[in-house]
Amino acid sequence: MTKQEQEVTEEFDRWAQAGRGEEMEQHHWPITRPALEQTRFQPGDHVLDIGCGTGWLVRAISARVPDGRVAGIDVSSQMIEGARRLSASVPNAEFRTGSISKLPWPDGSFTKVVSVESAYYWPDPASGVREAWRVLASGGWMWILINYYRDNIYCHRWGSLLPVTTHLLAADEWAELFRQSGLTKVTTSRIPDPTPTPEVYTGRWFLDADEMRRFQNEGALFVEGRKP
Ligand SMILES: C[S@@+](CC[C@H](N)C(=O)[O-])C[C@H]1O[C@@H](n2cnc3c(N)ncnc32)[C@H](O)[C@@H]1O
Repeated sequence: MTKQEQEVTEEFDRWAQAGRGEEMEQHHWPITRPALEQTRFQPGDHVLDIGCGTGWLVRAISARVPDGRVAGIDVSSQMIEGARRLSASVPNAEFRTGSISKLPWPDGSFTKVVSVESAYYWPDPASGVREAWRVLASGGWMWILINYYRDNIYCHRWGSLLPVTTHLLAADEWAELFRQSGLTKVTTSRIPDPTPTPEVYTGRWFLDADEMRRFQNEGALFVEGRKP
């Protein structure tokens, strides 16, 4: 494991211990729901969620693929421990601790690969996309959804607030990485966050409530492609 991955692991182990895995479900569901709605899941799909945290998305997808299976992987063993505990009653869900750098599955294992709010932490986004492509089956679809990308100026401050290395790529750059990996039909789009903003913002990610509103209106970046 690289030093960068070690730092990310330690950071997200701390997040998991502080209960922030479950918190992220609340924050990320409003942008993820539209992404799920536009994904044509088949009952027998095999799906992988990269950077799955405590597994809420794995559980949401498992209900949509009752004859298939859904795997979640995360570099933080604490997140995976939480995911296993929360998913004990979900028969078609499985979780592994591990990194995007080397996914523990053979080539072409999944018909769909998804990832929410994780790709900008990957140590090398280009090789991460290639590794995701490797485990995707021919004819399968892959997408990432991220709130931290260069075209949304209201998130730029996060880079200095996060105590780990992050990659602030533009939508066009992510699309190019998708194409370079061999994915086709690559598209990018935005998913605005409809969550009502507070009258007064007291957190540290935005200057004030107005900036938070602008950020949410810009929307999360959705990048999708198909393996021929
Ligand atoms: C902001 S959290 C998002 C978690 C979850 N997808 C969600 O939306 O609640 C980012 C997650 O990506 C994971 N992650 C970061 N780098 C990773 C890597 N190289 N390989 C696998 N997972 C990674 C982190 O451990 C963390 O759980």
